[in-house]
Amino acid sequence: MGTIMPPSPEQHRPPQRSLIAVIDNMAGRRQALVNILKPYFRVVDHEDGDKAIAELKNSRPAAALVADRLPPLGGYEVVKRIRDTAGLERLPVILVAPNGGKTVQDGQRWCGADRLLVWPCHPSMALMVVSSMCSLHIERSWEALSPIPRLALKQTLLAFNGLTEAIHQGGDVDIGEIGQASTSLVAALNDNHCHLILDAVKDHDDYTYVHCLRVSAFLSLFGHITGLPQSEQVLLATGGLLHDVGKIKIPYDVLNKAGQLKDVEFDLIKTHVESTVELLQRAPQIRKPIITIASQHHEKLDGSGYPLGLSGTQLDDLARMATIVDIFSALTDRRTYKPAMDPELALNLMLEGMSRELDMRLLAIFRQAMLDAAVFAEPVYG
Ligand SMILES: [Fe+2]
Ligand SMILES: [Fe+2]
Repeated sequence: MGTIMPPSPEQHRPPQRSLIAVIDNMAGRRQALVNILKPYFRVVDHEDGDKAIAELKNSRPAAALVADRLPPLGGYEVVKRIRDTAGLERLPVILVAPNGGKTVQDGQRWCGADRLLVWPCHPSMALMVVSSMCSLHIERSWEALSPIPRLALKQTLLAFNGLTEAIHQGGDVDIGEIGQASTSLVAALNDNHCHLILDAVKDHDDYTYVHCLRVSAFLSLFGHITGLPQSEQVLLATGGLLHDVGKIKIPYDVLNKAGQLKDVEFDLIKTHVESTVELLQRAPQIRKPIITIASQHHEKLDGSGYPLGLSGTQLDDLARMATIVDIFSALTDRRTYKPAMDPELALNLMLEGMSRELDMRLLAIFRQAMLDAAVFAEPVYG
């Protein structure tokens, strides 16, 4: 434990958007992909595979989309050449293929491409696939971490990806897998790896995963400083990981919109509370505090929150803690359209401007714990 360190300048600059290469000879589809991607990524497009490879060596994109029929070489050959080019061997590649075409029928045989995007598709599907590929190099960098934080990161990601898949397919939440990941996360936090874990996910493109992981870590630390045993910290961490899973149902372009949300979009985002509770209530062996965290983390003491407008004594300590942590995390989250707010500034803003909405006694405890824990100091890798 020590005093909070000054924020790293790198963390507080607006993030550089990832560069995506679109390699497609079909002008209409190429332009459609560029239009879908450019509000969220920097995009460079090419119609010729061979020339594109030469340029990729210089531009080093975060991911490339390659059309499966790309004359004269063909998309498969372009993917092979990318894999054989020094410096591009590990470039995440998405093969774009028409629905019903041979590539789709071939199943997993994409000649070294990491993912398949079946075209045409909903824009949010294209954005989700590209986003997941942008995060691949971040996830691969975790291999260099020491075993305890590495395990926490891998297990939380695996559990979250499993959740995402299950929710998209109408399946149920696997509490066992999330609980196991939460146990590993709490072990890493109690072994003083909080700063390292927060740093390791800051450029990950899956905002819902990153936000849920951060809320999970902060809630667990909150439990730790209020004297809760490790088993209860795991319960809080599990609640944090699951508190927003209903957001998985919200389209990428709404969830990641850079400008002001329209009323209809904000109403859609607000539905994530009911979606999350509905999903969690279906999960066997779920514990009540996990549902309380999910159902009340947007409620405020003065009744101005949602979805129910609960107030005062209707909100127990767990809900009050979850609201504080969720707001703190949202302010200090780094988004593609905004830098992370300085944590001390965020805590002071909450203290000075939200006295009617938040439990000031709990906020004072949380604030001191965050300042003391050096959670945001530069991480030491090893
Ligand atoms: Fe939420
Ligand atoms: Fe949240």
